[in-house]
Amino acid sequence: IQTIAVLTGGGDCPGLNAVIRAVVKTALGAGMKVWGIQNGFGGMVENQMIAMTDQAVSGILPRGGTILGTTNRDNPFHYPQKRGNEIVYENMSEQALANLREKRIEALVVIGGDGTLKVGSDFQAMGLAVVAVPKTIDNDIPGTERTFGFDTAVATATDALDRLHTTAESHHRVMVLEVMGRYAGWIALHAGMAGGADCILIPEIPFAIEPVIAKIKQRQGNGKRFSIVVIAEGAFPRGGQVSVSRIVEGSHEKIRLGGAGEKLAREIEEITGIESRCTVLGHLQRGGSPTAFDRVLSTRYGVAAVQCIKDNVFGHMVALNKNQIIRIPIEEIAGQAYNVPLDNELLLAGRAIGICFGD
Ligand code: F6P
Repeated sequence: IQTIAVLTGGGDCPGLNAVIRAVVKTALGAGMKVWGIQNGFGGMVENQMIAMTDQAVSGILPRGGTILGTTNRDNPFHYPQKRGNEIVYENMSEQALANLREKRIEALVVIGGDGTLKVGSDFQAMGLAVVAVPKTIDNDIPGTERTFGFDTAVATATDALDRLHTTAESHHRVMVLEVMGRYAGWIALHAGMAGGADCILIPEIPFAIEPVIAKIKQRQGNGKRFSIVVIAEGAFPRGGQVSVSRIVEGSHEKIRLGGAGEKLAREIEEITGIESRCTVLGHLQRGGSPTAFDRVLSTRYGVAAVQCIKDNVFGHMVALNKNQIIRIPIEEIAGQAYNVPLDNELLLAGRAIGICFGD
């Protein structure tokens, strides 16, 4: 294979640039030509591509975001087109492939989460040679122990918890921190543990308010007049529902998670009478420079993706297993999610020290 392309799809995530850099450097070193497709799969349809040189990736290792741009809207198989005042959705996958053929691109590295993997495997089914790299701060992609970006998001949330501790202590308040993670509790569990939270609530275990209140009161009884609660954005009370807001984009209705923390803080204040505040960490978890761990993991993934191409192994995602890089067929994992298992060692540790609840 002489010419390849790389794209970043879905929400951004610390470490994207480190993967791009590793892909470009490894491929150039192997004598390949590399194109960068801009703005995710949309750029494949719109023919937005730039030649990737050593110069183009110089200095990007520690930079957050993606130099290629990304979007979590554009799917070439269901692509929005303006017809007068109306938006219609058309299958533009043939056009996207023709754009690659024109540049003699024989293989594509897609760096993305579940949506990107799905589109990648649909293109693979049409004969394009695809290799995937698992990206998301949520760590919810099956087949790999770690997605890159997760470690940085956990570090950011941990730092937020350290900061919340001092203000909670000064004001004798309950501080609730709502973290991202979609329907998975990985960020909440790891950051809550690292940041010394008093309660961690994750989507995998619908929560009851009573143990949370009991924990806060127990701490008060011990002379600790503040408490810190970490709640995943997708956590919800037993018998209740995930907190979402609905946003209409064009003719599409999009669901956004959020509001779980605010609701919980209000409930805690009402029941205990203790002043409570909620902080929603939001996209701060997605921005900024990747941690050393994520820089290294991203680089390993980028190098491994090009190695797949050199070995003619396609339709696979590179993954981490027992700290070794492995390859997993995309079709084995497409459309699935990786949640915190109820026998997860860290979850059990959280229960042992009284900060995670469940039956
Ligand atoms: O999947 C990454 C993630 O940051 C989730 O944790 C969060 O629910 C979602 O993306 C937010 O998406 P958006 O940037 O489209 O609001």
